[in-house]
Amino acid sequence: MRSPAVRLAVIAGDGIGPDVTTEALKVLDAVRPLLNSGISVEHLPYGAEHYLSTGVSISPGEMSRLGSEFDVILVGALGDPRVPGNEHARDILLGMRFKLDLYVNERPARLFDDRLTPLKGKSASDIDLVIFRENTEGLYAGIGGIFKQGTPDEIAIAEEVNTRRGVERIIRYAFEWGRSHAKTRVTMADKANAIPAHGLWRRAFEEIGEEYPEINRDTRYIDAMAMDLIRTPESFQVIVTGNLFGDILSDLASTLVGGLGIAPSANRNPGRVEMFEPVHGSAPPLAGKDRANPMAAILSLGMLLETVGEQDAASAVESAVRSAIAAGAVTADLGGSLGTRAVGDAIADRVRRSAK
Ligand SMILES: NC(=O)c1ccc[n+]([C@@H]2O[C@H](COP(=O)([O-])OP(=O)(O)OC[C@H]3O[C@@H](n4cnc5c(N)ncnc54)[C@H](O)[C@@H]3O)[C@@H](O)[C@H]2O)c1
Repeated sequence: MRSPAVRLAVIAGDGIGPDVTTEALKVLDAVRPLLNSGISVEHLPYGAEHYLSTGVSISPGEMSRLGSEFDVILVGALGDPRVPGNEHARDILLGMRFKLDLYVNERPARLFDDRLTPLKGKSASDIDLVIFRENTEGLYAGIGGIFKQGTPDEIAIAEEVNTRRGVERIIRYAFEWGRSHAKTRVTMADKANAIPAHGLWRRAFEEIGEEYPEINRDTRYIDAMAMDLIRTPESFQVIVTGNLFGDILSDLASTLVGGLGIAPSANRNPGRVEMFEPVHGSAPPLAGKDRANPMAAILSLGMLLETVGEQDAASAVESAVRSAIAAGAVTADLGGSLGTRAVGDAIADRVRRSAK
């Protein structure tokens, strides 16, 4: 007997969001024969168009419905030049992260094909890491504001929030993940030499790390970390860091494995609804032109499938992406000549063949 259906909410969003999400859902349809349980899909209209036509980004009721009536959420991207202040994207995306308390932002960077890295002499065995970015605090907490805007005396203040509870839970998550994936090293990046508040991260890291004697603890200042990630990516397995540093490091890490077009992510709080999205934004110049790489969205679907216990389906999706890359069935950002839809087809066909 099949288990009850997993309830999936889809927010395709803005720009290339709908382009890449369509391909991810194409792949979901292809992988259905491998699923142990059904997956029901509800499309939600939130994005710039909805905001501009209704004046509402997302209502508090809808936000809590996302938390209570769905198991997983798949997001395309949010951001539209018609909303220059980006307030709808903040309400929807940061709203989900903060209000649904999705404190873990998991961003893997694995090199699927040696040809995709810009680093000389590095191969797939050298670049296989995952970044755990704290997702609910830091400089994104929204504490601060702008005073005397537009005058020579303008003051802009943004305060960084680091709570013991928030820092502890992301560090613990990183160590737990490291343990369950047989990793031998967790690296923490901060700026404790210049920002005394980051001493909290150092203390929590040492204390919690002691509970994981089989895992080596490694701490770096964020500036050195950025340099080392390029010089010696093989020295990193699991990286844990704050909200802003994690955002920046994960774009950098994605570049080591082929770029934003291939970088997936998960926003998690185990036991609650979890949200999956490409690391990339809405890339407005590419929107609707059949040019965006859908692989980040498709790999985000793969992470979603794994999370809901659909291991075979998740593996089929990842194998299909690897096989498409090996065959050169890729978009221009990865050096190919296919469009978004053709890459989606190439992956869906491969998934379908493996599901037979
Ligand atoms: N999670 C999100 O929804 C998210 C994340 C970042 C930025 N944004 C928003 O997206 C908008 C554009 O921001 P940006 O230009 O700084 O970042 P972006 O990620 O949209 O684009 C950065 C660069 O990467 C390229 N790129 C991104 N995704 C690609 C893909 N799938 N295939 C091929 N190339 C791809 C773009 O063409 C551009 O050159 C802004 O409104 C921003 O606020 C949203």
